[in-house]
Amino acid sequence: MKRIGVLTSGGDSPGMNAAVRAVVRKALYEGMEVYGINYGFAGLVAGDIRKLTRRDVGDIIQRGGTFLYSARYPQFATEEGQLKGIEQLNRFGIEGLVVVGGDGSYRGAYALTKRGYPCIGLPGTIDNDIPGTDYTIGFDTAINTVLDALDRIRDTATSHVRTFVIEVMGRDAGDIALWAGVASGAEQIIIPEKGFDITGVADNIREGREKGKKHTIIVLAEGVMDGKEFAEKLDAIDNFHVRVTVLGHVQRGGSPTARDRVLASQFGAGAVEYLKADKGGLCLGLRNEKIVAHDIVDTLDNMKHKPNLDLYKLNKEISS
Ligand code: F6P
Repeated sequence: MKRIGVLTSGGDSPGMNAAVRAVVRKALYEGMEVYGINYGFAGLVAGDIRKLTRRDVGDIIQRGGTFLYSARYPQFATEEGQLKGIEQLNRFGIEGLVVVGGDGSYRGAYALTKRGYPCIGLPGTIDNDIPGTDYTIGFDTAINTVLDALDRIRDTATSHVRTFVIEVMGRDAGDIALWAGVASGAEQIIIPEKGFDITGVADNIREGREKGKKHTIIVLAEGVMDGKEFAEKLDAIDNFHVRVTVLGHVQRGGSPTARDRVLASQFGAGAVEYLKADKGGLCLGLRNEKIVAHDIVDTLDNMKHKPNLDLYKLNKEISS
């Protein structure tokens, strides 16, 4: 394969730029050409495509977001969308594609592979919820952003002896809440993968006060319910005057951490090696610190993402 494309799709994540840079630089190193596709699959269908040079990916490794832009484009699940995409790939002579994104993006990559255009999926999302990998591009940066916010909130919570609920992202997954919660010493972590009992949460706040704790930090994953609703439930039990902070999209931005940059670089270069060997329909992951490749369909259908629930248990043991 001599000419490949690269796109970023779904919610952006810090480190996507580092991944694209690695794809371009590794491909050039291997004597291949790379075309950048703007706005994910939407841009593919629209033909928003240009050749990328070495210099196009200079000075981006440290930047958050994605310089190729991104989009959520469910229309690519249809035959019509895919055929239009293929028309554009043919127009530009692109033989294979690197797709950086989440599971929806993986489905698109698989569909193109089935139609004769080998694609490699790279896990890019702050949620860390992609099966087949221990870590996704952007997760480490996001949890450090959340951690910084939690440390600041703890300062003010302690000063006023208050209870805070901090709602963090992670549509269906509790990883951000779990990791940032443990790292910040949060009193409670509420995630979709575990149930919660609101009276137990209230009891824990009172017990903390009795033990002399000056604050209660509750990290709530958005997939459970929204922070305001959760705080109202607590205040209905007792007069806690719970304060709520919704961190929102601040979690998606910012300069990627060293770990995300390295991981993205490994994934990007790895993807080029597979395409160079004309292999597609694969997604890359990190397993026990090694880069591995799995069949996309097998990954999506049979390898469910599981958060590290040992961390949940650990937090219960050490947070009081
Ligand atoms: O990309 C993942 C994510 O940030 C989720 O954590 C969140 O639920 C969702 O995207 C928000 O999506 P959007 O930016 O499209 O509102």
